[in-house]
Amino acid sequence: MSDTPVRIPVSGGGRYDVVVGRDLTELIPEALGDGVRKVLIVHQPAQGRRAEVLRQRLKGDLEVLLAEVPDAEEAKRIEVASFCWGVLGQADFTRSDAVIGLGGGAVTDLAGFVAATWLRGVRLLQLPTTVLGMVDAAVGGKTGINTTEGKNLVGAFHAPIAVLADLTTLDTLPRNELLAGFAEVVKAGFIAEPSILDTVERDLAAATDPASAAFAEVVTAAIRVKAAVVSDDFTEQGRRESLNYGHTLGHAVEYAERYQWRHGSAVSVGMVFAAELGRLVGRVSDAEVDRHRAILASLTLPLGYPANRWPTLLSAMRRDKKSRGGMLRFVLLDGIGHTSILNGPEDHLLFTAFQEIAT
Ligand code: GLY
Repeated sequence: MSDTPVRIPVSGGGRYDVVVGRDLTELIPEALGDGVRKVLIVHQPAQGRRAEVLRQRLKGDLEVLLAEVPDAEEAKRIEVASFCWGVLGQADFTRSDAVIGLGGGAVTDLAGFVAATWLRGVRLLQLPTTVLGMVDAAVGGKTGINTTEGKNLVGAFHAPIAVLADLTTLDTLPRNELLAGFAEVVKAGFIAEPSILDTVERDLAAATDPASAAFAEVVTAAIRVKAAVVSDDFTEQGRRESLNYGHTLGHAVEYAERYQWRHGSAVSVGMVFAAELGRLVGRVSDAEVDRHRAILASLTLPLGYPANRWPTLLSAMRRDKKSRGGMLRFVLLDGIGHTSILNGPEDHLLFTAFQEIAT
């Protein structure tokens, strides 16, 4: 990509930019804005070195605190949020100070929750270091933690002041993690921006190489989709629901797998299921279902789930916070690039769709 970072404006919950480019550390002071004296960098263990480099860069002008938190969903616990609140309290963190989320989607969700709740809300700068974080979790102001009853049950909408998607942080991301994040990239393609699918189909190796122009193009396009949706519907009253394509079954798979699967892998299975459901109700063609399978398989993402787990998935879907009064809702495609809602489908229809993905 060119050396000039791309700025994507977002207006949900306040105006901010998602900046996509390489080597964006220089932009942090400007992004934090005036009046900040202290920052807390919330990071996972693997980002410890990067957090320390940032601390050294920023410490002339700012007091920089670090909070190392566990990996993945283990970070999104009330005890971990409480630990971060403790660090902020000990440091006399004020309303004009800022929290920085440095890491994958779980860390940016947690950092966002800590920023949303400390003194009823302080500035939040998101520095996502995974594809999933860049194209989804860090953009749009959804923050939260899990409870023993389920994922993201406690949280707040709290928009960041900026998101710096520094593609150099992906150069060392494990390949399977990067490909799992691509589930959300191609989701953006399926629901709104088919050119993403064309680029991935044309040259998979380039499209999934963080140093290539094709990679920057598809990641930027996916962020534009998310930015447009959340700018239009910050608090998920309508259009934002389209971002949940593949997520109704996907969340149930994550639950059934005790959150040991990567989110993107579960969403991949969920998108194939949603495509099959769309085909059954006449909104998606055979060729479009095949296209889901071909693209997701090329990313080495799973396409199916064991047949005997259907009862577990069905009850998990019914408990999902997105179901309304026990009635299931599915985001389906209406052809590639458009979405629609399927409300309260009969169980036998869901079972028939599931049989198409059962292994
Ligand atoms: N991850 C879905 C959303 O931000 O609404």
